[in-house]
Amino acid sequence: MGWNTWNAFKYNVSSELLVQTADLLVSTGLKDVGYTNLVLDDGWQALNRSDDGRPQANVTKFPNGIPPVAQHAHNVGLQFGIYMTNGIKGCGPKDPGSWGYEEIDAQEFADWGVDYLKYDNCGTFEAGTHPPQSRFRVMGNALRETGRDILFSLCQWGDQFPWFWADQIAHSYRISGDITATFSDTGKDCACKTAYCLNTGYAGCSVMTIIRKMREISYFQHPGSFADMDMLEIGIANMTLDEERTHFSFWAALKSPLIIGADLRTISNESLSVLRNEKMIAVNQDKLGAAVEYLADISKERAFQTWAGRLSGNRTIVLAFNELNDTITVDVPFSAVPGLDSENRYKLEEVWSGFSGHVKGNISATLASHETKVFILKQD
Ligand SMILES: *[C@@H]1O[C@H](CO)[C@@H](O)[C@H](O)[C@H]1NC(C)=O
Ligand SMILES: *[C@@H]1O[C@H](CO)[C@@H](O)[C@H](O)[C@H]1NC(C)=O
Ligand SMILES: *[C@@H]1O[C@H](CO)[C@@H](O)[C@H](O)[C@H]1NC(C)=O
Ligand SMILES: *[C@@H]1O[C@H](CO)[C@@H](O)[C@H](O)[C@H]1NC(C)=O
Ligand SMILES: *[C@@H]1O[C@H](CO)[C@@H](O)[C@H](O)[C@H]1NC(C)=O
Ligand SMILES: *[C@@H]1O[C@H](CO)[C@@H](O)[C@H](O)[C@H]1NC(C)=O
Ligand SMILES: *[C@@H]1O[C@H](CO)[C@@H](O)[C@H](O)[C@H]1NC(C)=O
Repeated sequence: MGWNTWNAFKYNVSSELLVQTADLLVSTGLKDVGYTNLVLDDGWQALNRSDDGRPQANVTKFPNGIPPVAQHAHNVGLQFGIYMTNGIKGCGPKDPGSWGYEEIDAQEFADWGVDYLKYDNCGTFEAGTHPPQSRFRVMGNALRETGRDILFSLCQWGDQFPWFWADQIAHSYRISGDITATFSDTGKDCACKTAYCLNTGYAGCSVMTIIRKMREISYFQHPGSFADMDMLEIGIANMTLDEERTHFSFWAALKSPLIIGADLRTISNESLSVLRNEKMIAVNQDKLGAAVEYLADISKERAFQTWAGRLSGNRTIVLAFNELNDTITVDVPFSAVPGLDSENRYKLEEVWSGFSGHVKGNISATLASHETKVFILKQD
């Protein structure tokens, strides 16, 4: 869990912004509920390495370099993350990538006090004789060699189906092109609508399309290495409250990293309250690390979706999501939910409303447009 510069600021980053945001993570209470990584994405680099080959920060944006920013994060109780790419060049094609400099860069990052590396797959096409798996692994090894505990977060946009191999290399791995500031699948967003599609690279994906991709791969989630659905658009994308809650519910229940993308200087209190929902965060951080799965038999394509999964303490979680513009009622019969028994009585709680009660046989969920209800059940 943490915050990342990219969604709100793109290349417009600076030491001032990072220091200010570190303080806001603390004063808004976000740090206390678990958002402890302050991550500086692309845009921090100078065009040239130093004479001895070390990466350098843009001095206009970071007049005193990166270490004081990392130090400030540590001073207020956060970890500090940075971004680099595995190619000869970066994604902004003039920036240097780490290819051939992995040991130097890893050591430099460790010396700067970096705790988290987001490692992208750009500028690699010149190095096309080396598959991304080996280019990622060289950096993973270099990070380990530094002796510093650095979280390794891969950004490979779902290309080459990383859920089959990235857990051998990194702690998290992206499964889609970059998220964009839209909730609905417009038909034009994201070239790849499903997980097993030959991704041709970068593409803006809506919240709904990224959820759609997880249908095929959510069962790969396991502690140690997690599929990353990309940064949150809560507080940026002009979504309704129900859409922001749906976005957060699925990222949490599918066990994605929860990385805030909003400008914390201007975010609304309503969006903050979504991000700070401690019951939803507890679902995300649940020690089983088991993601919900899509239940096709009790869902209806382009109308409503039902997902369910296990939580620690013999609990079951059910998500019911209304894709339509009108209010509908969705029935969830327990005979169709793995782990639930139609004959048993359950104590039930709905996360967003706080409603609690007892149920037997089914849940009947009335859902407003784009609303998701999140039910947690435990046998009586
Ligand atoms: C860059 O960010 C600064 C402050 O964070 C802001 O004042 C400025 O308007 C931004 N520039 C652009 C071009 O967005
Ligand atoms: C450094 O950042 C400044 C301010 O955003 C920008 O004008 C300049 O082009 C950047 N320099 C390099 C070398 O990227
Ligand atoms: C959100 O709405 C505001 C005001 O209408 C608009 O200026 C802004 O561009 C919108 N942002 C996005 C990401 O659509
Ligand atoms: C959010 O609430 C706090 C305190 O409750 C208040 O000081 C602040 O102005 C509010 N922010 C916005 C953007 O409304
Ligand atoms: C979960 O269920 C199993 C089997 O019924 C039982 O042995 C175990 O004590 C239960 N655990 C909790 C935390 O309720
Ligand atoms: C829902 O509303 C949006 C925006 O008004 C519209 O574009 C879309 O076609 C509607 N969808 C359905 C299924 O009616
Ligand atoms: C759902 O359960 C209620 C009582 O718990 C029952 O009255 C209702 O018939 C059930 N609905 C369906 C569709 O099974």
